[in-house]
Amino acid sequence: MPRIIKAAPDYLALSPIEFGRHITNLLTSKEFELTIEGEKYTRVLGYSCRALFDTCMKYFSKEDLVVVTTPIQHTSFRNIIEKYVKPENIYIIKLNKSFNEIERIPEVKKCDLVVITHYFGQDIDLSKLVNFKKKHSCFVIEDRVQGGTMDTLTSHEIVDIPIYSMGMDKRPIALGGGFLYLENKHKKIIEGIVKITKTLPQEKTGKRFKELLKKIPTYLFYNSRIFVAVFLELLRVVTFFNKKFSLLEFAKMYRAKNPGFDRETYLSKPSKGLLKSMYRHLDDYKDMEVLFAKKYSYFLEYLDPEVISYFLPWQRGEGSLSVYNTLQVEEQLVDQFLEFLTEYDISCISNPTYKVFNHDYEGKEVDVKFNNGIVYIPSTPNMNKREIRFMADRLKEFYDLVHNE
Ligand SMILES: Cc1ncc(COP(=O)(O)O)c(C=O)c1O
Repeated sequence: MPRIIKAAPDYLALSPIEFGRHITNLLTSKEFELTIEGEKYTRVLGYSCRALFDTCMKYFSKEDLVVVTTPIQHTSFRNIIEKYVKPENIYIIKLNKSFNEIERIPEVKKCDLVVITHYFGQDIDLSKLVNFKKKHSCFVIEDRVQGGTMDTLTSHEIVDIPIYSMGMDKRPIALGGGFLYLENKHKKIIEGIVKITKTLPQEKTGKRFKELLKKIPTYLFYNSRIFVAVFLELLRVVTFFNKKFSLLEFAKMYRAKNPGFDRETYLSKPSKGLLKSMYRHLDDYKDMEVLFAKKYSYFLEYLDPEVISYFLPWQRGEGSLSVYNTLQVEEQLVDQFLEFLTEYDISCISNPTYKVFNHDYEGKEVDVKFNNGIVYIPSTPNMNKREIRFMADRLKEFYDLVHNE
């Protein structure tokens, strides 16, 4: 009999009261600045991480913009780069097999921007780009949404613009919004980015209100153990009568119909209500990091080293701050793996986040293979030790199954 794990592939680190506050924040009439100047850095706030990235790209855009970038990106980042840069001007950094180190930086005559995406709750070491940056005097932007600890504003001193999301399941969380940092000395760029943001249509309060209401079932799925347990019991009855309907099918359908973010209108200016929510939570990342690291370390403890290197080839050290519990299996085994977990009522989903670029480049097939093998399993913060152990045991079982075949 499958044992129910009452956790979904996501977790929203906020209490029901906080959830309610995001709704009441919409009543504010207060004006909030889009910038917060600190001693050395200015924080620029935007409607989302992708909106800020698009704004940066717009600011830097020119006829022959050359970008050097990591091979897989959040879908929105991939699309934004392709929107502003000709395919022949997008050069791909070769990462090592585990996708946690830079192996080769492409040779280019000139480079305007380097765009780095960090993966799976860790930072990629950017030391290898130090000389490259000196040589080309390029700007370095990083997507640190799934990167390492926010105790440091950037992953490395060569980074000029780190970008963060405050979206649905991110750290810190405001159910929307994002921010970036720039050194105060880049006054012109800060003003440029703010100017572009101010020209964007402002998010309507009513729209945010509707979106927050629509997130209530998602919140219950991701955060309420009782809700998930009851749902899984009901699902069991339904699947008994209709074999075509499974947890896997439901998870796919639900995520497709309820994306974490509205993809069409991301180029917006945040509403006052969203800004209020962001201002209240801008620095609330530490508790989340502690919780994610603690729970994830239990998960690692229960896994044998060979199982870790099979499913988590990128794993360095003890923890991971990833908000998504991400694994890697061989591309051709993804469907089998998802069905295997579904048999145990473990909700899972194949890579909903990352994409490779559309143009051809040397070594693309390796990146495609890696990207196709990414799977999300339940996120650990909402799980108890018994459930985490149960999930770890299932990974071992699958590992033995495919290695003994
Ligand atoms: C790695 C990564 N980058 C960027 C984003 C986009 O963030 P936002 O929804 O704030 O635009 C996400 C969202 O899931 C992400 O996971």
